[in-house]
Order: sequence, then structure tokens, then C-alpha cells
Amino acid sequence: MTAAILDGKKISADMREELRAETALLREKGIIPGLGVVLVGDDPASRSYVTAKEKACEETGLYSDEVKLPADASRERILEAVDAFNRDDRIHGILVQLPLPDSSIEHEVIDRIDPAKDVDGFHPYNAGCMMLGRETFLPCTPHGVLHLLKRSGARVAGSHVVIVGRSNIVGRPLANLLSLKNELGNATVTICHTGTPDIGVHTRQADIIIAAAGRPGTVTADMVKDGAVVIDVGVNRVPDASKKKGYRLAGDVDFDAVAEKASAITPVPGGVGPMTITMLLLNTVQSAKRKLGPS
Ligand code: GUN
Repeated sequence: MTAAILDGKKISADMREELRAETALLREKGIIPGLGVVLVGDDPASRSYVTAKEKACEETGLYSDEVKLPADASRERILEAVDAFNRDDRIHGILVQLPLPDSSIEHEVIDRIDPAKDVDGFHPYNAGCMMLGRETFLPCTPHGVLHLLKRSGARVAGSHVVIVGRSNIVGRPLANLLSLKNELGNATVTICHTGTPDIGVHTRQADIIIAAAGRPGTVTADMVKDGAVVIDVGVNRVPDASKKKGYRLAGDVDFDAVAEKASAITPVPGGVGPMTITMLLLNTVQSAKRKLGPS
């Protein structure tokens, strides 16, 4: 079997077109959806994610503002940047790019974001609502994976999904969302992680495998059942002297070999990545729409 490519770029482009139209309507009513971004330090991957998010805002008609702080910025200075966006009426969504150079303050910084502007869905209030199946901002990468599965026609309800990786940003929220009884979920979910003795025992049973471990080569062909759907969340910079930048992007999945067995697979880049940014735009537009009051 040779897998169909799940084209996140195309699905994203369609969704962004819809969002552009929605944003244009909001603008006619005097509301310009706005995203406030806080970037601390100069990690090249974080810098490039933030640039991509701001470019997507511009292309979709959203306003964006960025506060860029040095890697040694004090805790107080970072909290001040969050407070300023909390107060700013032009800003409907706030994103603090993670990881922070000092990871020990991440909880405090996330807790400081007004939950009504928490378009990442990382605030404990929103994370709790998500877990309970209440309406809230859903975290962008898991939400993007759900829409990618939905728009590609994969059958999620009743299937066995195995997630490799238990991060707070991807693995754990995805497991929650996929197990909820609604039209995007209703799956049986297993989470594997670094404490799982033999991950292949589990992935070989999966109808859908979601790789979110942050390590290239985590999912190899021998770990995949014939006909499985494989979603690769990994974005790893692998040194490659033949490239101008000195690296290439690789996911967590051994793409070429797995594509021979899977029925469908996401590429890296061009799979989950664009969906994540699209969900950030979606959440920011949703947040701005709340200004209109209950519809
Ligand atoms: N770092 C990696 N993924 C994300 C994300 O979705 N949001 C934020 N704020 N930081 C990240």
C-alpha cells in the first residue's frame, strides 16, 4: 500500500480563506481581530514559528503585535508584557511562545494570561474546560490534528488511536479531545511515552498513530499496521550539509518506509504545522467575535 498524503497546507489554505471572509465581516463591524505575541530569547526555531504566525495574521487580515524580550529578561518584565496585552483592547488573543529560556517561570506566566484571551488554550482554566468537554479555546496543535483528520475523511469515532508523546502541548490534550464523545472524537486512546517498555506493541494495534515525541525516527515501518493513518507532529532540525541553512526538517516518523504501509500520512513540513497556525487564527477570530456579544 502507498499512503495518500494528508495535505495540511491545502486544508489550511481552505480554512484560512474562510477565516479571511469572516475577518472581513468583523472589520466591517469595526472589529479587527488582534494577536499579541511575546517572544523571549533568540531560539531560532521559536523565532521562525513566531514569524510564520505573524505572517499568517497579516495574510488573513488580523492585526498582530509582538513584544520581543532578551533571553535574560526578568520574570517581572515578562509578566508586565502579558499584563499589557491583557489590558489592550486591540488584542483578542495572547501567545507566549514556549519554551521560555527559564522554564521554571512558565506556569506563572501562563497563569497570568487572561483566560478570555488565552488562544493557546494553555491556561489551567481553559485546559480544565477542555478536559470536561466544555466550550473553550482548544490548544492549536491538537485542534489542528482533529481538523486534519476530519477534513481528510479519516474515521476517528470507534477507532483505536495511539499517541506517542505525553507533552502538555500535544499528547495529553489530544488524548483528552479524541476520547470526548463528540463529532471530532469518540475514539479509544492509548498514550505511549518514554516510560513505555515497547511502544511498537501498542502502535501495531493502532488504526491511527499520532507521533508527537520530538525525536526523528520514533515511528518506524515495523511499528505500523497495514492501512493505518499516520499523523506526524514532530518538527526536528536535522543537520544536513547539503542544505543552505545547514539543516533539514524531519518529523518523528520514518516517512518513506512508513508511507509504504500506511493508508494516509502527513508530510513534514506541510502536514500538521500549517494546521497549528490556522487554529491560532481561528481562536483569535473566535475571541474577537465575542465582542459582538451572544449570537
Ligand atoms: N511552542 C511549541 N508549540 C507551541 C504552541 O502551540 N504555542 C506556544 N505558545 N508555544 C509553543
